[in-house]
Amino acid sequence: MKLSTRAERIEPFYVMEVAKAAQALAREVAGSREPMIFLNIGEPDFTAPPLVQEAAAKAVRDGATQYTQALGLDALRERISAWYAQRFGVDVPARRIVVTAGASAALQLACLALIDAGDEILMPDPSYPCNRHFVSAAEGRAVLIPTTAEERYQLSAAKVEAAWGPRTRGVLLASPSNPTGTSIAPDELRRIHAAVQSRGGITLIDEIYLGLSYDDAFGQTALAIDENVISINSFSKYFNMTGWRLGWMVVPEVLVPAVERLAQNLFICASTVSQFAALACFELESIAEYERRRAEFKARRDYFIPALNQLGLNVPVVPDGAFYAWADCTRAAEALGVSGSWDFAYELMRRAHLAITPGRDFGTAETARYVRFSTANSMAQLQESVARLARVLG
Ligand SMILES: Cc1ncc(COP(=O)(O)O)c(C=O)c1O
Repeated sequence: MKLSTRAERIEPFYVMEVAKAAQALAREVAGSREPMIFLNIGEPDFTAPPLVQEAAAKAVRDGATQYTQALGLDALRERISAWYAQRFGVDVPARRIVVTAGASAALQLACLALIDAGDEILMPDPSYPCNRHFVSAAEGRAVLIPTTAEERYQLSAAKVEAAWGPRTRGVLLASPSNPTGTSIAPDELRRIHAAVQSRGGITLIDEIYLGLSYDDAFGQTALAIDENVISINSFSKYFNMTGWRLGWMVVPEVLVPAVERLAQNLFICASTVSQFAALACFELESIAEYERRRAEFKARRDYFIPALNQLGLNVPVVPDGAFYAWADCTRAAEALGVSGSWDFAYELMRRAHLAITPGRDFGTAETARYVRFSTANSMAQLQESVARLARVLG
């Protein structure tokens, strides 16, 4: 059957290939002294807290399962608005908030609303692979700009200005980033947005990991800068609800009708049960639990990053958010007698039963040297991982 060129062009999500291989090996070694440890997972190891689970069950029991309006339940949009005020001190009116089926649907809606065929979107290398595919699905072109550790693996205004061409439509950033866990310094973000605005472009920023921020110098939403910033967010990470498929985006008011039309036609609405459940995320008891978990994520980072550095898996920038470590595996690969992050990941899986993610998905610049570790795992599992790494790396 003939595929569309659009479908042909989409590269596989290699993370998933590695995950499949890890699952297969995990079954083989399940009963051994060293069962598989998964440090390749991009989702919290926690599940939704009790009030959220109960709210979902109640919605089902009450039969509150019809479609909602495309923009989402008004009550939920109000709760999200209040969260911006409470946590970030930023006024984000509910009428600018669009509830979506995860950040993924929000990114699709944003790209389809704003990108025409041939438009170019600038983004950092490395970055979350699906983001460039959302752009190409809208028939745009993602232009990956190599970044450095000194830049916290983020774009700078100078690089945006230098890369801006006649077809450039805007930037797509993620702060904190997947795979690096590093954020854009607030002043640099202001400069980037000013450069974009002065060229009539759009600033799209994926803030899905913003809730999991560990450093006050970075933990502010880009929505504080200007109403024209478009921010994508989600219940997946801070709120521990990956499989519930719920997220949102904040758009300038003039964009709401276009996004609403697209959402009505493409999705009808986000999951109704998940929306009712998510109302309970903002209860004091739930927020207290999320904050305890955020502290746990920070403690894991504080243990794991120095341990990796000591093992020669150099993490050039300490992540200020999310649950990833972006490590240079050049020396460690040599120690295992292989070269490159792809072979290193497979060799580590084979010898230490540790699943990690090679850099390949995230770009082309330095990704053959880098691997991503996820710290969304218990402290005990992280300690065991460090022991195994120490053993195989000698
Ligand atoms: C940077 C980034 N953006 C978006 C997503 C998609 O998230 P969601 O589950 O909300 O669709 C992910 C998921 O890992 C991510 O890491």
